[in-house]
Amino acid sequence: MTNPASPAPIIRSLDALREMTRSWKAKGETIGVVPTMGALHDGHLSLARAARSATDRVIVTIFINPKQFNNPDDLKNYPRTEHEDARKLAPIGVDAIYVPDGAQMYPDGFSTKVSLDALTDVLCGAHRPGHFDGVATVVAKLLLQTSADQAFFGEKDYQQLLIVRRMALDLDICTTIVGCPTVREIDGLALSSRNLLLSDRARTTAPALSEVMEAITEGLAAGETMHNLVPLVLERLERAGFGEVDYLELRAASDLSLLDTPTEPARLFGAAWLAGVRLIDNVPV
Ligand code: PAF
Repeated sequence: MTNPASPAPIIRSLDALREMTRSWKAKGETIGVVPTMGALHDGHLSLARAARSATDRVIVTIFINPKQFNNPDDLKNYPRTEHEDARKLAPIGVDAIYVPDGAQMYPDGFSTKVSLDALTDVLCGAHRPGHFDGVATVVAKLLLQTSADQAFFGEKDYQQLLIVRRMALDLDICTTIVGCPTVREIDGLALSSRNLLLSDRARTTAPALSEVMEAITEGLAAGETMHNLVPLVLERLERAGFGEVDYLELRAASDLSLLDTPTEPARLFGAAWLAGVRLIDNVPV
């Protein structure tokens, strides 16, 4: 483990990364990886801490993956805060921060895509064509590049977590995929790098999404159905100042099949636009 007081080395080349991971493996040390696109917040830091307590060595990766952005403006506006990210990671004592560039990840001639037949055509997959192919492709590469024994993902992106788990299983990638609980602001807003893009006014409105999701969860617990509850809360979101709601759906936690009542372990998923920023959230039901 790196001395918690000193910042972790930033590794930019795959060769240097491999030299480092080989030396760790030669000593029998286990490796945990936390894949990120930077703009780190307490949610990411909780993943790094989970990795720190589970494995001998921890690598945080920072790569803003162009293949998972279906909107060029979203890619252009995505926050880039590498120095600040390294500063935030220092107290956790991660061993390396891997920051490959586009040419390192997708050199000329790169032509492979990892694409899943299941789990990808609903929720965010239905609204962001190609997004999960981009995620599956880059995560497969990052797991293989880092030789990770365990990889840590937030339940905030629950669909992504299921997809990554399925992909690792299907491709025989020997990395255990660990899901970690969503971290929230005190007012309930799920932490996300995109929250940085919210204006002060939008930031005060944003917790309405988690509030209506809590209201639905309570309604379901009282025996109500999604069919009856959703129209009521859509109105509430609109009154709060939200724009389009991409989805507000109850789905099975195991395979994301659509439910009207929680007849099996389920999650409630929401995605909605607020002042040009797309917010997503999900809670167990
Ligand atoms: O969740 C994210 O930040 C990204 O989708 C990931 C997993 C780092 C892949 O680019």
